Amino acid sequence: MVKDGRITDIGDETTIRKKYGNDRISRETNCRSQCLVPGFVDPHTHMCFAELREDEFALRIQGTPYLEILARGGGILSSVSSVAETNVDLLAQNTGNVMQRAMAYGTTTVEIKSGYGLDTENELKMLEAINMAAASSPLDVVPTFLGAHAIPQSFKNKSDDFIGLVIEEMLPAVKKQGIANQCDIFCEKGVFSVDQGRRLLSAAKELGFGVKLHADEVHDLGGAGLAAELQALSADHLLAASADSIAAMGEAGVVATLLPATAYSLRKPYARARQMIEKSVPVALATDCNPGSSYTESMPFIIGLAVLNMHMSPAEALTAATLNAAYAIGMEKRVGSLDIGKQADFLLLEGKSPAILAYHAGVSMVAEVYKRGERVASGYSSSKDEGRL
Ligand code: NIG
Ligand code: FE
Repeated sequence: MVKDGRITDIGDETTIRKKYGNDRISRETNCRSQCLVPGFVDPHTHMCFAELREDEFALRIQGTPYLEILARGGGILSSVSSVAETNVDLLAQNTGNVMQRAMAYGTTTVEIKSGYGLDTENELKMLEAINMAAASSPLDVVPTFLGAHAIPQSFKNKSDDFIGLVIEEMLPAVKKQGIANQCDIFCEKGVFSVDQGRRLLSAAKELGFGVKLHADEVHDLGGAGLAAELQALSADHLLAASADSIAAMGEAGVVATLLPATAYSLRKPYARARQMIEKSVPVALATDCNPGSSYTESMPFIIGLAVLNMHMSPAEALTAATLNAAYAIGMEKRVGSLDIGKQADFLLLEGKSPAILAYHAGVSMVAEVYKRGERVASGYSSSKDEGRL
């Protein structure tokens, strides 16, 4: 039962009919024996950007490393240049288009980061664009401030000074603007150190932001350990995280947000999901949708990679893409599971079980997408009268 966009009761058809009587049921949805699952929550994306980076993709597949492209002033920094040249309306339009595609693949809640601004004006502009895109979409959007995503050219070799600027100027401005309530940083060799992460995220926590970080993506710097120390909402990536850091995250109850399409796209070994699950780390899954390291908005693709390449069971992958993902962005009270009181965000899958998402590779078996009880998108759905498949 759904009322005002929320789940008010759950039960089989006969019980529900008996309890409420037909006159209190104004609309019925026939799920045609399909599988019904919670809407996907994508807890780590960079969906707000101005241009694609296909030239960089061509370089990467010929062997140029991702961090080398960044060190040469490309990569994230090329997205920074294009965002600087794009006005807020166009940026919002672009973001909305990417979100629309994500929704067709079953995403009903999405986190979107800033981080292609790298100065106060452009970081605020990105958050404003994210807010505008959210206002014209049915999706729930959680905006995250990622001012410390890369060292801008004007601060080359002065990363401490840049962190100072993020803390003293950007964070208070973002707080005042009031759109983002989470703060993130990219801790990586040649980008920001774990000490700089500690400085920034401690300051952000004091201002009341939830904190998280891009940790141990390419090199093991101990970012996952910092997430445990700070009781972060999540540590994300973790391809190179050490066993000790993983154990520390398990003890602190910090969510590991894993981004298998980034490992796939960068041709790196996948994060060790099984080891994390054994150490009681709650694992979430996300697309990392961005124009550089992972250009996909498809959660079904992520679930397929998680099952086949990270050895998660379909049930574990579904929990990671829904409830654990909601925890990773502080949305667990509203979304992420089909519980009474939560939003009626659900999907009808064209298949008998969630395993269909991984089993049927390269296509989306999400037939219908419901947000707060309303159908907001539909994908392919076969007519069961015309054959078995
Ligand atoms: O999560 N690693 C840093 N940030 C993003 C990539 C952003 C980009 O390349 O534009 C990530 O992979
Ligand atoms: Fe990212």
